[in-house]
Amino acid sequence: MTAQSPLSGTRGPSDGHPLHVAIIMDGNGRWARARGLPRTAGHRKGAESVRAVVEASPGLGITHLTLFGFSSENWKRPQSEISDLMSLLRFYLKSELRNLAKHNVCLRVIGRRDRFSQDVLDLIAEAEHETGQGTGLQLTIALNYGSRLEIVDAVKDIAREVAAGTLDPETIGEADVNRHLTTRDLPDPDVLIRTSGEQRISNFLLWQAAYAELVFSPVLWPDFNGQHLADALADYRTRERRFGGV
Ligand code: IPE
Ligand code: IPE
Ligand code: MG
Repeated sequence: MTAQSPLSGTRGPSDGHPLHVAIIMDGNGRWARARGLPRTAGHRKGAESVRAVVEASPGLGITHLTLFGFSSENWKRPQSEISDLMSLLRFYLKSELRNLAKHNVCLRVIGRRDRFSQDVLDLIAEAEHETGQGTGLQLTIALNYGSRLEIVDAVKDIAREVAAGTLDPETIGEADVNRHLTTRDLPDPDVLIRTSGEQRISNFLLWQAAYAELVFSPVLWPDFNGQHLADALADYRTRERRFGGV
């Protein structure tokens, strides 16, 4: 990939290059607290921001959008908050399905499926099936996702192939790790945005974001909209990407 000049900020939706944006959607709880509302209210408003960025993405030249919705560590939260998040997920998957299909979005969910209830699993499967032919935005939502866990799972798969004699350990390369990650069908993220002013990765796409440009936005996720996304991309486009070269 070539380094981008600041002038590439003019890059539009139709230049044909893939552009993968990953977002750590953070700040729902603080948004609610600032208004004296329960945390759930922040999560509910945050779901509207998901719709806004999904709809703004194609016009900004984004071909792949990956959203961190629920981490493998978020199970540590109070049961009541987890139940609220699961209800919201059910609601989102049901109510947005038609809208996603209408916008030609292809939705995929990554993360371990082991801790979700069967009805949530069924809704995920239905949403993936119904949008599977979408040729527009490739939308990935990370649920019960943790990057270290994903890498551990990949290591186990690779170890099984070695034990079965189908993979020679001497030949293992980055591509072998890649093909065992849940993101195997995605290009690496070009930009990783985190909202709410926090400046950490929180176990998201550790392998994949090796050369992603990091953009930290002070905006709380429920306030984040298409204009904020455009601003983050404008920031990204001023960066000189080097990939270790000069
Ligand atoms: C992000 O907002 C949503 C999830 C992690 C599910 P938070 O709930 O983490 O909000 P803050 O960080 O407490 O403000
Ligand atoms: C990261 O946010 C996970 C999601 C946005 C889904 P957290 O709010 O859980 O991260 P920490 O705990 O502040 O690092
Ligand atoms: Mg948070």
